[in-house]
Amino acid sequence: MEKRKVAIPQLKEMKKTGCKLKMVTAYDYSMASLVDKSEIEMILVGDSLGMVVLGYEGTVPVTMEDMIHHIRSVVKGAAHTLVVGDMPFMSYNISREEAIRNAGRLMKEGGADCVKLEGGQEMATIVRAIVDAGIPVMAHIGLTPQTASALGGFKVQGKDAARAAKLLADAQALEEAGAFAIVLECIPAQLARLITEKLSIPTIGIGAGPWCDGQVLVTHDMLGLFDRFVPKFVKQYANVGKVILEAFQAYAQEVNASTFPDMEHSFTMKEEELAKLE
Ligand code: KIV
Repeated sequence: MEKRKVAIPQLKEMKKTGCKLKMVTAYDYSMASLVDKSEIEMILVGDSLGMVVLGYEGTVPVTMEDMIHHIRSVVKGAAHTLVVGDMPFMSYNISREEAIRNAGRLMKEGGADCVKLEGGQEMATIVRAIVDAGIPVMAHIGLTPQTASALGGFKVQGKDAARAAKLLADAQALEEAGAFAIVLECIPAQLARLITEKLSIPTIGIGAGPWCDGQVLVTHDMLGLFDRFVPKFVKQYANVGKVILEAFQAYAQEVNASTFPDMEHSFTMKEEELAKLE
């Protein structure tokens, strides 16, 4: 059967029928093409780009231009997968107008199908404004990396009843504001279950236990391509970094030993042409 492009209404339907949603990050065409061949419904072009691709300490320096550049290449490889473009730090926090303009750029210039932004109740009016402009929004609460310093670092959020209640209220306000799904990052599994039960939009967990409607992982973490910091919630499904390093070492050794390239990987000219030349 021909594979169809994943559509946003389908995600809510999946929640209703208990089908799990799967999302991973990708930042370029070749990785997106691989995701597109799998059963994963969504690609997040996350601003984790800043850390795992651009080598920054965090996500704060990532710009709109960085995001548009990478979203464009992902979209080329994602014929069937829904592409979520992450709004970088300060691209949606200053005013509603600027938030709409920048969300629009991720779709118009990048080609994203929808956008994601971080924040709770305080972002509800911004989410509403973007949604009213016709742009689907995925929300993101819990540990929000763009404001990690204000949260006291990369820590589990909502561990006591008061903070957990605040996160539940955040999730409800974002649903009310029109978000079509919500990422729950680094919160206790029981709280994620409660939020998942209370919302009619899908929850997508990362470090939020098994009871969310879906899951997301950063591809570079799950494939062993980024080892500067590996959070507890990451499961490494492959160690591609090790395979790549072994390939680089083997290549270097063969070039040193003049065993690569051999004639199998070389071009030849006809003997008579060579004779003329000589
Ligand atoms: O930028 C990102 O990759 C994210 C995920 C951690 C959800 O926001």
